[in-house]
Amino acid sequence: MQKNIKHIAKAPIGIFDSGLGGLSICKEIMKLLPNESIIYLADSLNAPYGEKTKDEIIQLSIKNTELLLSLNCKAIVVACNTATTNSIATLRKQFDVPFIGIEPAIKPAALQTKTRKIGVLATEGTLKSELFLSTSEQFRDRIELIEVKGENLVRFIEIGDIKKTKPLLKKYLSPMVEAGVDSIVLGCTHYPFLIPLIKEIIPENILIIDSGEAVAKQTEVILRAENLLNKEVTQKKNVFYTNNDVHVFKSFLKYINIRDDNALYKKF
Ligand code: DGL
Repeated sequence: MQKNIKHIAKAPIGIFDSGLGGLSICKEIMKLLPNESIIYLADSLNAPYGEKTKDEIIQLSIKNTELLLSLNCKAIVVACNTATTNSIATLRKQFDVPFIGIEPAIKPAALQTKTRKIGVLATEGTLKSELFLSTSEQFRDRIELIEVKGENLVRFIEIGDIKKTKPLLKKYLSPMVEAGVDSIVLGCTHYPFLIPLIKEIIPENILIIDSGEAVAKQTEVILRAENLLNKEVTQKKNVFYTNNDVHVFKSFLKYINIRDDNALYKKF
């Protein structure tokens, strides 16, 4: 167990993902908690995590956590469904810091579905994880889940080629629409960037469920409970780390409307 981490309210929140996807969570946290400084880690060179083994995902998640903790982060947001569902239990055992994770939002979808059919678009790593299997098991007697792997979607998003995902999306979403789902859960933090395209493909009455806001709220709840919320308006500084091209990263931030003139951009 790694201890001695400075749990102080002024310290930054660490957020990591296999790449750019976690920025959909980061954006919500920046909106909800404007006093907080953020250190974002995009492990883009190792994306996609969704095609890796559980052990590889755990090792990468440990590496990302160690880096964020070496930068004195007070809490870690695992802004990746694949990393959460495969590694958060190990991370919580190994590190003495609060972790906030994200997993496909089946429960909220199950609470509101009328057709009792829900689509889940996620990575292979998430869909075959024990955590996903045990969560989905709780609903299977009442609800039919149409699970589809979003193969190659992350690859296109990572190179900023969002429009090229449209034919793939058509292929992945049509079995859900044909089955009569009334909700589609986006079980990967990269996918919210595809919502405009998804809306062009599916009928209007199908609800798209993305849990970015819920994760930001949960981050607030955990920080408050741990007495780690930054209540002072200090000179905050967000730092974005990527092990890929910083220019690609910056242009993606612009594309998704994250504007932060004070931020620092670093390679790791
Ligand atoms: N953003 C990720 C997730 O939420 C990761 C996808 C990947 O790297 O395959 O699952």
